[in-house]
Amino acid sequence: MTTPLNVIAMDGPAASGKSTIGFMLAEELGFLFLDTGCMYRAATLAALKKGIDVEDETAVTALSRALELDIQPAAGEEDGRQYTVLLEGQDITWQLRSPDVDKHVSLVSSYIGVRKEMVRRQREFGQRGQVVMVGRDIGTVVMPDAPLKLYITASAEERARRRWLDRQAQGHANNYDAILADVQRRDAFDSNRKHSPLKPAEDAFIINTTDLTPKAVLNEILALTRLHLP
Ligand code: DC
Repeated sequence: MTTPLNVIAMDGPAASGKSTIGFMLAEELGFLFLDTGCMYRAATLAALKKGIDVEDETAVTALSRALELDIQPAAGEEDGRQYTVLLEGQDITWQLRSPDVDKHVSLVSSYIGVRKEMVRRQREFGQRGQVVMVGRDIGTVVMPDAPLKLYITASAEERARRRWLDRQAQGHANNYDAILADVQRRDAFDSNRKHSPLKPAEDAFIINTTDLTPKAVLNEILALTRLHLP
């Protein structure tokens, strides 16, 4: 399978700002935006809703294959969402951000069968072209031939601060130290897992956003886009 020339692969750790930046970039270029984390989150939420034990790899894998999942542009919604996720026709977009999903999603996304199924769906999406795809393994595994690969990172403290602000805005119970601990736990888990660990592709541009505004990051990426996209 060949990768369309205009796919931008964007990876990075939890709360690095990659979704914010990826979304802004897609808007600017008139591309589709796919946040692949929401697919692992949807599989996790579906297991929790159906009472499937998230430790049961066989059952979670079977569930991921049967998942009736649809991701659509956020047309018309005024609640700050970047896209709408439908699970069996039901809008679950905000449920995907719950602390319960946060807690279990790393485990679910470490299962090889779940990953294979999600990667298959992601490649299908990528074939449409003109896509900004955001995740952990887009440049390394999902779209290794993408003409532009970006790895967006920031210090753990800054990422925890950003997540704290997001949570505050969404009205969830909030504690900075707990969020920082969760960010560090997920970094360690995502980077050390056996299948598709989080790491920059060899030919990725690494952008540290700790001291940069989203607009400054976007401008840096737009300059790279002009150099690397046809
Ligand atoms: O980006 P996020 O926080 O929504 O991602 C949720 C989880 O899914 C995270 O623990 C890592 C995993 N993930 C992954 O393994 N591969 C991807 N391409 C995207 C997310």
